[in-house]
Amino acid sequence: MYAERMGTIKNSAIRDILKLMSRPGMISFAGGLPAPELFPVKEIAACADAVLRKNGPAALQYSVTEGIAPLREKIAAMLDPGRTRLSAENVIITQGSQQALDLLSKVFIDKGSPVFTENPTYLGALQSFQLFQAKVTAIASDSGGIDLASLRKHLARQKPRFVYVMPNFQNPTGLSYPLERRKELAKLVRDHDVVLVEDDPYGALRFEGEGLPSLFELAEGRNVVYLSSFSKTIAPGFRVAYAAGDAELLKKLVIAKQGTDLQTNTFGQYIVNEYLESGLYQNHIDLVIKTYRGRRDAMLRALERHLPGSASWTKPGGGMFFWVRLPDDADTGALLKECITRNVAFVPGTEFFPDGSGKNTLRLNFTNAAEPDIEEGMQRIGKSLKVCGL
Ligand SMILES: Cc1ncc(COP(=O)(O)O)c(C=O)c1O
Repeated sequence: MYAERMGTIKNSAIRDILKLMSRPGMISFAGGLPAPELFPVKEIAACADAVLRKNGPAALQYSVTEGIAPLREKIAAMLDPGRTRLSAENVIITQGSQQALDLLSKVFIDKGSPVFTENPTYLGALQSFQLFQAKVTAIASDSGGIDLASLRKHLARQKPRFVYVMPNFQNPTGLSYPLERRKELAKLVRDHDVVLVEDDPYGALRFEGEGLPSLFELAEGRNVVYLSSFSKTIAPGFRVAYAAGDAELLKKLVIAKQGTDLQTNTFGQYIVNEYLESGLYQNHIDLVIKTYRGRRDAMLRALERHLPGSASWTKPGGGMFFWVRLPDDADTGALLKECITRNVAFVPGTEFFPDGSGKNTLRLNFTNAAEPDIEEGMQRIGKSLKVCGL
């Protein structure tokens, strides 16, 4: 009765866990949720009002599939036109970056098409690729990103439809690519004439140090499709994000989008555009960074206090996640069940490994809980570790 492709797909474990999050007293480190108390509600109300006054009917009408021109122009300008020579032609607006992943899958993947990812990788991307029956190969990855020797070996054997990476504060590990790895990867995909999908929803949330150039910039726009989103910098409820890249390639995504939803919601695009114009955007990001940095530090202290010496974790310089490794024989699926009884949640790491490995790993989100809850939640996880014999 259902299409063949549905046979391989399972429901997202994260979505299932999120259903429990409304339980009273639950402290969630599970979803990648921004802090709702930081959403600029009043400012957005003022922007919505201004949009309705200035562009009322147009903001409520159907619009073009590519996205409204002023927003696309602003995004092109934000993405360093000096190096990439971008114009609005090189940007389309998508309904969240998740839709861009879906559209890329529609455009590039036939049944059995090879796609290369980091290992571990973003669960939502895996869901999209697998729904289109891609043959996903997870390339060995280390603390500096995808392992280039391993990628080279795989590229010599087969040409994937694309390589999917997150160079900034990766979901789930929180790790970033150093400059040298970025340069080499940009060169590698150009030499092999392979499309690289660079997913960057977290790059703007950098807590310390200087931002590094994107692969998109380093490759001067060639071979790279760059995805980013306003979900983590303004609010995910807008579902306003964008894909930037070669204009011809984007035209294919536009065709796929027409059949999907005709366009991203017009009103949301106008409001985001107005918010960017208001000059409040950077101040807001600064506030988000300051708050998240404090929460990152609180979780770091709590990890040191409540996890045993046999556990290790990343120290993310931005983004939203810690990645924890327990001793090899620990099972974080069992740990989660125990944690749920104590009203605390995280995501078991195995969800993010295309090959089902990583049973001893877990992802902790640090942006959605206030600092005292972070301490309390980590204490609960620490007590639950007895089910892993720790
Ligand atoms: C790496 C990555 N890509 C894409 C998305 C989807 O974001 P959006 O809200 O823009 O659809 C997320 C959301 O958590 C993410 O972590």
